[in-house]
Amino acid sequence: MDLEKLLSDRLAPAFAAVAGGPVDPLVRRSPHADFQSDAPLALARRLGRPPRDVAVAVLEHAVLDDVCASAEVSGPGFLNLTIADRTLADLVAGLAGDARLGVPPAAAPQTVVVDYSAPNVAKEMHVGHLRSTVIGDAAVRLLDWLGHRVVRVNHLGDWGTPFGMLIAHLADLGGAEAAHELSMGDLDDFYRAARVKFDADEAFRERSRLRVVALQGGDERTLRLWRLLVEQSERYFLTVYDLLDVTLSEDDFRGESAYNDLLPGIVDDLDRLGLLVCSDGADCVFPPGFTGRDGEALPLIVRKSDGGYGYPATDLAALRQRTGELGATRLLYVVGLPQRQHFAMVFAVAQAAGWLCPPVRAEHLGFGSILGADGRMLRSRSGESVKLAGLLEEAVARATELARSRNPELDAEAAAEIGRAVGIGAVKYADLSTDRRKDYVLDWERMLSLDGNTAPYLQYAYARIRAVFRRAGTEARRDAPIVLAQPAERALTVELLGFGAVVTEVERSLDFHHLAGYLHRLATAFNAFYERCPVLRAPDELRESRLLLAELTARTLRQGLHLLGIRTLERM
Ligand code: ARG
Repeated sequence: MDLEKLLSDRLAPAFAAVAGGPVDPLVRRSPHADFQSDAPLALARRLGRPPRDVAVAVLEHAVLDDVCASAEVSGPGFLNLTIADRTLADLVAGLAGDARLGVPPAAAPQTVVVDYSAPNVAKEMHVGHLRSTVIGDAAVRLLDWLGHRVVRVNHLGDWGTPFGMLIAHLADLGGAEAAHELSMGDLDDFYRAARVKFDADEAFRERSRLRVVALQGGDERTLRLWRLLVEQSERYFLTVYDLLDVTLSEDDFRGESAYNDLLPGIVDDLDRLGLLVCSDGADCVFPPGFTGRDGEALPLIVRKSDGGYGYPATDLAALRQRTGELGATRLLYVVGLPQRQHFAMVFAVAQAAGWLCPPVRAEHLGFGSILGADGRMLRSRSGESVKLAGLLEEAVARATELARSRNPELDAEAAAEIGRAVGIGAVKYADLSTDRRKDYVLDWERMLSLDGNTAPYLQYAYARIRAVFRRAGTEARRDAPIVLAQPAERALTVELLGFGAVVTEVERSLDFHHLAGYLHRLATAFNAFYERCPVLRAPDELRESRLLLAELTARTLRQGLHLLGIRTLERM
């Protein structure tokens, strides 16, 4: 049982008695006590009574004696609540025997489709795909751990008119042979060369146009070339996923082309439902509430005037399949914020068509950009967009170098292992520790620093605890009685008891910076504890208690980092 919930459960009946109806006690951590409740303020306004009087009345009704050491009214009418040490010790003892660290599995498991990563065939993954991959994978890990049925969907951009040009270029180069030479990391060069030819050469443009027609018409030779491009790209993306240590596999690719056969049905059904409007030769839906700059209604174009279907139609078909065939009750789309309107319109049309009905929910988990040190969109020195693989290799190289310089005795293998866990961890953590809606600056020094809200700081705290156990020569006794002698061990205990609440909140919000912030507070509380409370040199009873607190901290850090997709190391 987490502390917020414990206090809420105790306060709720008292608030109800004072208010004459249910009131959320709004219990949260406080800098002045362990927890505070702000709810008397709003309630006082509603009742037209002085806030402090309301707060006093709530306290009179609340049964808190057995769990709180003190409960007082403070300031304009907050409740300050300090938990009794006995309660803390009992609850943390309960955690020790709980493999799930106080995080119960979901009471009502859902089928959740997570649409993430989704790079485009024959193009490099860029940093936007990095964010999608990292955030989406954290969502997958967390929801899976909570017992939901999670379906990963890698909505690869593998269809559309650019493929005419790409296939024509591949054919010019000699087809299959050239595809095999199209080695890893040359994707952008390939794309650019095709583009240059397309812009310069009328005959090539014509060949490209014919290839689009052939591709859509199912011409076997053209499809074979298309498949080569897709396979080659997928193979490349898998090497990036491997380097990035994410759970996406080849089974999760479900590109845009997978929905081709469903597209005519989407148009027919929208038409039958009376939602389709022909506008400038294109089949459109005008969902209510979407207007352009001049106030004119905005269309979602389902079929273009040339008869082709585009990105929106594909997303409608995908959504319908997810809520229908896959039986999903929660749909997540981890895609950059520039596509916010696209998703809002797709969801609105799907609702109008009855393909997305409560309790099923679709959420666009939008995110901002990664910026360079100059505060502008991250670019390579030559001004192109940064290749993700190169960025990850740089992270690992820098972290390996730092590990070596900190500890010159490390052998090459150990340094490489640390470099990989820390480098990749730092990249992921930099992403997950900021509010995803915001842009953030890629700053190697800060990300790789052992101080501050960084992956290395957390990984180091974990490794430090493991070192204590190596020196102790034993693991903690899970049934050791907890003694809270010092303020620092009390503070650590309060943090340990907060894991459940934060995971439950992130399950709903998917705001991973809250989990990151929690882990950072936990590691900081541990470091303060470790500075002030001797562990191995303490008298027996204290030593056992402190070893158990240390072990719980390590397990919580490890599990929390694991949910973020970040590895822990036994030594650093
Ligand atoms: N391939 C797209 C891009 O790179 C992202 C696709 C996101 N998923 C979706 N269902 N539309 O921008």
